[in-house]
Amino acid sequence: MTITNTSRRQFLQHTVLGAAAATFPGMLLAGSGSLKNQATPGFKPDVELEFTAQNAQVAIFGSGPATRVQRFQARLLKGPQQTLQQLPDNYLGPVLNLQQGQKVRVFFSNALDEPTIIHWHGLHVPQSSDGHPMYTIQPGERYVYEFEVLNRAGTSLYHSHAHDLTAEQVYRGLAGLIKVSDADERQLALPSGEFDLPLVIQDRRFDARNQLQYLHMMPERMMGFLGDTILVNGKPNAEFQVKSRAYRVRALNGSNSRIYKLGWEDGTPLTIIGTDACLLAKPETRPYLMLAPGERAELWLDFSGRAVGSKLVMYSLPFSGTLPRMMENMGRHGGGMMHNRLLTGSKFPIATFKISEKVGDSPKLPTQLVPFQRLSEKDVNNVGKPLPIAIGMQRMRFTLNGKTFSMGQVLASERVALGSIKKIRIYHDHGMSGHGSGMGMGMRHGGDGRHQGMGMGGAMMDMAHPIHLHGQQFQILRRKVDDVHRESYATVKDGFVDSGWKDTVLVMPGEEVEIIKPFQDYKGLFLYHCHNLEHEDLGMMRQFLIE
Ligand code: C2O
Ligand code: CU
Ligand code: CU
Repeated sequence: MTITNTSRRQFLQHTVLGAAAATFPGMLLAGSGSLKNQATPGFKPDVELEFTAQNAQVAIFGSGPATRVQRFQARLLKGPQQTLQQLPDNYLGPVLNLQQGQKVRVFFSNALDEPTIIHWHGLHVPQSSDGHPMYTIQPGERYVYEFEVLNRAGTSLYHSHAHDLTAEQVYRGLAGLIKVSDADERQLALPSGEFDLPLVIQDRRFDARNQLQYLHMMPERMMGFLGDTILVNGKPNAEFQVKSRAYRVRALNGSNSRIYKLGWEDGTPLTIIGTDACLLAKPETRPYLMLAPGERAELWLDFSGRAVGSKLVMYSLPFSGTLPRMMENMGRHGGGMMHNRLLTGSKFPIATFKISEKVGDSPKLPTQLVPFQRLSEKDVNNVGKPLPIAIGMQRMRFTLNGKTFSMGQVLASERVALGSIKKIRIYHDHGMSGHGSGMGMGMRHGGDGRHQGMGMGGAMMDMAHPIHLHGQQFQILRRKVDDVHRESYATVKDGFVDSGWKDTVLVMPGEEVEIIKPFQDYKGLFLYHCHNLEHEDLGMMRQFLIE
């Protein structure tokens, strides 16, 4: 049933290298590092799909040469016709429409000339179907995913999670949107069909021949890749022709590192009905919405009463504090390392909505959405001893809990009992040795604690990180920011929607975020990492072992 292959050999090697800390007992190793390339006979799928990662050329621009990309192609072998929704002329993979309760099998083939693997970001699936980089397959190899859709209705995504190659492969196109529906959602009769729009936002850089440019140099990699061309659903200068009624819009930040502050130019507030993989209990209104890499937000955009021919532009609005001040300024003055016309935190358009047709009727925004159980400290078994996710830095790499990723390594604080609900504290730990037990308490800015940044001082540490946890969705318990960062924090804070389920949370400089996460259903290794994909590839990733 389990087959030894290259991935397993790599896995073992990593384990040996990572031997300084706790590594897996032999039994677990044998089971978890092996390639799953056969269907399980007892698993009866409702949906069966074939996915292939391959090189392709797509016409992203109206003129000039096609762009070389990497793309997921998919084919429906069994299941409802609407399971796959192809996006014409696109590097994005097809939209995957799933329903709660479906059993899904995916035969995934790697037709690239480099290793890869798919991760279903937001879906709660077993370890062997989660796309852990230990399962990275070589060109020509196959991987079989089998899982049941346990998720409730919402929006997720799939993307490459290849070991060390995630950032570049996602950048070159290996990503797509997932919609999950369920009975609660169907009762709401939310806008559907042409009124249910994806809004996948990505930034890219192209050369004069329309080819994607990706840079591998430090320190740009260390800050995260930033493009100067915004693509929405795989196209530049996005314009939607909409009717004068309400739409459900599924926004996904599919960028490697760019953070957006979404808002209308005329100040109209945004209505949010879902965050990450789930709908909210009730709609929320915000003046603007922060969307960090990996995050999703479902928006209720109502164009009722707007005149035919009028246009509404969605912008990324100005904000500050997500990059080290030095980097922000460097860009602003036009010199230095970051030649970029689209500075982080500057104002630029994302997409235009043009009212093209008047319709008499529009669905009404429901006042209540889906049932929601608020978790509190009463539900966790570690109130006074939260699991740490400490953001630090060593040798020009961001770390989590003082370490970069090591395939076979799990720390004592990363072992979690199956079925438990845990409080987790995500905070900046400036890595002062000897103060390690302070757990975020003694690590205030302004003191000597800021100087691990190798030459550039502690200012290098001052970066926002979108922290993503695989497995089940979590809830945000509280946020707390220190005084030093309060001013820049004020430019983003009204754009967080923390009232629902999340799998990715933006942690600002000087900020500490406490979350509550259930670890139910599946044993095994589940990653947590920064979804700034350059950070992830540089090792800002660790894993929980649920046992
Ligand atoms: Cu979308 Cu492990 O990530
Ligand atoms: Cu994920
Ligand atoms: Cu990061």
